[in-house]
Order: sequence, then C-alpha cells, then structure tokens
Amino acid sequence: MKNILVTGGAGFIGSNFVLYMLDKYPDYNMIVYDKLTYAGNLDNLLDASDDPRYHFVRGDICDPVTVEETIQKYDIDTIINFAAESHVDRSILDPDAFIRTSVNGTYVLLEAARRLGLERYHQISTDEVYGHIPDGYSSVESDPLEPRSPYAASKASADLLVNAYFVTYNLPVTITRGSNNIGPYQYPEKVLPLFATNAIDGLPLPVYGDGRQKREYQYVIDHCEAIDLVLHKGELGHAYNIGTAEEMENMTMVEILLDTLDKPRSLIRHVEDRPGHDRRYSLNTTKIQALGWQPRHTSAEAIRKTAVWYRDNEWWWRKIKEGDFKEYYQLQYGERLAK
Ligand code: NAD
Ligand code: DAU
Repeated sequence: MKNILVTGGAGFIGSNFVLYMLDKYPDYNMIVYDKLTYAGNLDNLLDASDDPRYHFVRGDICDPVTVEETIQKYDIDTIINFAAESHVDRSILDPDAFIRTSVNGTYVLLEAARRLGLERYHQISTDEVYGHIPDGYSSVESDPLEPRSPYAASKASADLLVNAYFVTYNLPVTITRGSNNIGPYQYPEKVLPLFATNAIDGLPLPVYGDGRQKREYQYVIDHCEAIDLVLHKGELGHAYNIGTAEEMENMTMVEILLDTLDKPRSLIRHVEDRPGHDRRYSLNTTKIQALGWQPRHTSAEAIRKTAVWYRDNEWWWRKIKEGDFKEYYQLQYGERLAK
C-alpha cells in the first residue's frame, strides 16, 4: 500500500482521513478524487495543499474513463471509497444522486479495481444499512441489511456490490460501517454543525420530533484510526462495525452542545419529524476491538470538542451558511419552524 485513491476526499470524513494518513505515514501518497458537489470543499484540505504527497483530481466516480486514467497516472494500488451523497434528509427530498453515486459509482470503482488488478478496495459504509435497531440489541456485521431511507438503501446496495466482487472475482475488499461522525469540516446540514452554528448565532435548534432518537456520536479521527487499522490488519471479504458502543439520545447531545457554547436551552425547538426516522442505531464493535481499536473520545468529549471547533472556526462555516445553504435551509426547515 503506497498510492491511495481517496474518493470523496474533499468531504468531511475523507478530508480528515487524508490529513490523518499524511501525518502518520511518510511514505504514502494520497490522491483525492472528488466531484466537488455542494459537500466537497477544498478548504478542508488546505493543510495538505503544499505537501508533495497530496494530489487532487476533480472527477466523478461514475465516470469510468477518468477513474481509470487517474488510477494509471498515479499508479494507484488502493481505493478507499468515501464518495457518496451523505445526508438522509436530502435523500428524502431527491434520491436520484444518491442512487447514481452509491450504486453506479461503486460499480465503476469496483470494475476499475478488478480490471487493473488493485491490491485493495475499501468501502466506507454506515450503521444505517442495518435499519432501525430495537432497544437491547446491537448490530453485528453478519446481520441482514434492512435499510429504510433512500440514503441507507443506496449505501446497503453498495455493500452488496462490494461483497459480490469479493465472492465472484476474489477482489481484495474490506468494508467499515461507521456510526455518526462529528468533528471539524462537517457540512452544516448535519445535526452537530447545524446546531452548533445556529446556537452561536442565537438561532433555534430544530429538534426532530421528541428528540429521543438514539445515535452513537463518534469523533471523526477515532473513525479514521479504525479505518486505518482495517486497511492494514482487516480480513479480506469482511465488514467491521465502528462505533462508540455508547448510545445517546439527541436531546442529551443538544444539552451538552448548548452547555459547551454557554447558550440557553430556550433555543431548542421541537419540529415535525423526519419521515421514516430510524429511532435507534447501535453497533456491536467486538470485531474491530479484537483488531486492537478503542475510541479515544466518549460521545460527550466528541460533542464538546466539535462545538469548540465550530466556535473557533467561523472562517470555515460562515461562508457556507451564507451561500446556497440558505435555500436548502428554507426548503428543509422553513415550514417546520413557521408552525
Ligand atoms: P460528505 O457529504 O461530507 O462528503 C462526500 C464527498 O463525496 C464530497 O466531497 C463530495 O463532493 C464527494 N462526492 C459525492 N458524489 C461524488 C461523485 N459522484 N464522485 C466523486 N465524488 C463525489 O460525506 P461524509 O460525511 O464525509 O461521508 C463520507 C462517507 O462516509 C460516505 O460514504 C458516508 O456514507 C459515510 N459515512 C458517513 C458518516 C457520517 O456520520 N458522516 C457515518 C458513517 C459513514
Ligand atoms: O449513522 C451514520 C450516519 O450518520 C451516516 O451514514 C450519514 O451519512 C450521516 O448523515 C448521519 O446520519 P443521521 O441521519 O443520523 O445524521 P443527522 O446529522 O442528519 O441527524 C442526526 C440525528 O439528529 C438524527 O436522529 C436526526 C436528528 N436531527 C437532524 C437534523 C439535521 C434533528 O433532530 N434535527 C435536524 O435538524
């Protein structure tokens, strides 16, 4: 492993992963391949911009010609596929790009990896592929995939394709299924950065329904460390869950966030729920722990650290919130907040 193609590397987790890997492995080259959708942002990679081991290619993973040219040009041996449309609410408004990128795009990458004989293909997946999980149970990697949103279904479809390429063509694949990541450079449509930046501006925090949904909020660098471990020690053909094993209700997350920013609880506004909202995800992480991984942050620590980052980095998020995001916010929240 030396020349790694990081698709979706200008997004939230991908960019954190690139910075983490450049810091950790002096011999690795990181080639970011990204379409730069609304969620892709080269500001996330400013810290790498002068590093000769970092390269950026603007491209769509659904475009087989550019994908193969890039693999050949940079002598790529490993693909890590972070590229996806990643926001559940947008998948409910318009699923088209979700299916295209996660189904067609994953297929294009798998075909390129197969045809060009790459050393490894790694798929970044999500706990949402297991669907809503009842209290008292935590998903294991062999559980059936029962996705319920268009986003989750597009990600589960990608996992099935990856597995099919392992079984049929013996392609050296691995999959990681992460819980909710939080940290620097997350587009402010996701709950943590949306609520942190709204709170900083004294705006309401639109909590869906009763806010008693449960998530495992994990610090993005903990997730990156686990991906790194699976790349180096994971068993081919296997999936690995990555989470905190510590579930938290959204209301608790909001309270920790507001306390960290020294903002009043009166900013909380309960609004109409997300259609088909999964109430609970929960991951059994025994398998990744057996490889030697533990998260370094509790969920509360991750929330506090993230809130402080948004407080200290207005340069990064204010221009996003003042741009096209305004239109999306109005569409998603205008009526909800007006009720
Ligand atoms: P993000 O939306 O911040 O970034 C996605 C990136 O993919 C963007 O840079 C975008 O420009 C790029 N992209 C989208 N379509 C593309 C295409 N067709 N071709 C090339 N690039 C394209 O997403 P994220 O939160 O960083 O998530 C990254 C991956 O991790 C996704 O696969 C997501 O499903 C998965 N995941 C996310 C979380 C989370 O909590 N955010 C948790 C588990 C898994
Ligand atoms: O679980 C992993 C998944 O986490 C990833 O696969 C997705 O890419 C990522 O977007 C995230 O999905 P969620 O739907 O869980 O994340 P989101 O930040 O949108 O919402 C987190 C919780 O907060 C969820 O229960 C919905 C709730 N929420 C969200 C928003 C945006 C609100 O109450 N209000 C909001 O405005």
